[in-house]
Amino acid sequence: MTDVVALRPLSPNRPAANAPRPDTRPPGAAALWFVRTLACAPFLCMLPELLAAATGRPDAAAALSVSTADVLGSASLLCFMLMLAVTPVHTVTGWTWHLPLRRDLGLAMFATAMLDLVIAAATTGDTFDGGVPGRIAGRSFLLVGTLATVLLIPLALTANRRSMRRLGSHWRRLHRLVYVVWGLVLVHLLLLFDLGGPFRNALLMSVPLALLRVPAVDRWFRTTRTAGRARALRAVVVVLLVATFAAGFVPAVQSFVTAGRGALALQPEGN
Ligand code: HEM
Repeated sequence: MTDVVALRPLSPNRPAANAPRPDTRPPGAAALWFVRTLACAPFLCMLPELLAAATGRPDAAAALSVSTADVLGSASLLCFMLMLAVTPVHTVTGWTWHLPLRRDLGLAMFATAMLDLVIAAATTGDTFDGGVPGRIAGRSFLLVGTLATVLLIPLALTANRRSMRRLGSHWRRLHRLVYVVWGLVLVHLLLLFDLGGPFRNALLMSVPLALLRVPAVDRWFRTTRTAGRARALRAVVVVLLVATFAAGFVPAVQSFVTAGRGALALQPEGN
């Protein structure tokens, strides 16, 4: 095949071959890779326990059954909330460099939730009766968690440009399932923890993200930002929204770090 680019004559404006190349990396590329690397942390944390189980260590299944919900459940929630934050951040700031994170964090959430489900199905027999069905759906909070995870399958499978082209307008409708998953995750945590702890954290993170999706709020932010109006009011609203999100996000990260450390040291919290 002819290399068209190679045959093109050198234009007078073209830099010499040995000239330093301009930096073509998009702004925020380092931040994107930082977040993508962080999204691998839950798998890294689970690795020692998975290896211990693979090598037949006697207490490995018990350790896995404790860590899976604590490490993978909290990681899954964090990935989900950060994924849901991508569009509101665009609405408020107008940034676009971070938009690829919507797909990346969605896939990370899918992977952590699926691994959570598989490990729960294999190892939580000591806690839940009824074999595999009992371990993944024997209680209402398990059933809701499993349903949320299963609903992620079509979303993950179609999180690519080819599916977007093929499904056309159905793609958007299908991806509205994200809102069903959001509701199910909140119900999963409400059933498990009542109004406290992880449920409260998830709710605090959800409120600003949901508010910024209200069409009137979304429109107000976009129009005032592009027209450069109501700067002080926008700043106050953003500070309040970020503070509410952080009030849930910080303890959720702390709980992930504590559980992750325990799993890495093969000493899960509950053991
Ligand atoms: C979309 C998927 C899911 C999300 C976002 C999620 C999220 C969470 C979170 C944040 C916690 C609290 C962890 C902590 O103690 O800090 C949790 C706990 C728990 N999850 Fe899930 N979960 C999901 C799916 C599942 C599935 C599929 C199962 C099992 C079939 C499951 C079983 C549990 C159990 C048993 C706990 C309680 C752990 C304890 O006693 O502290 N979850 N989940």
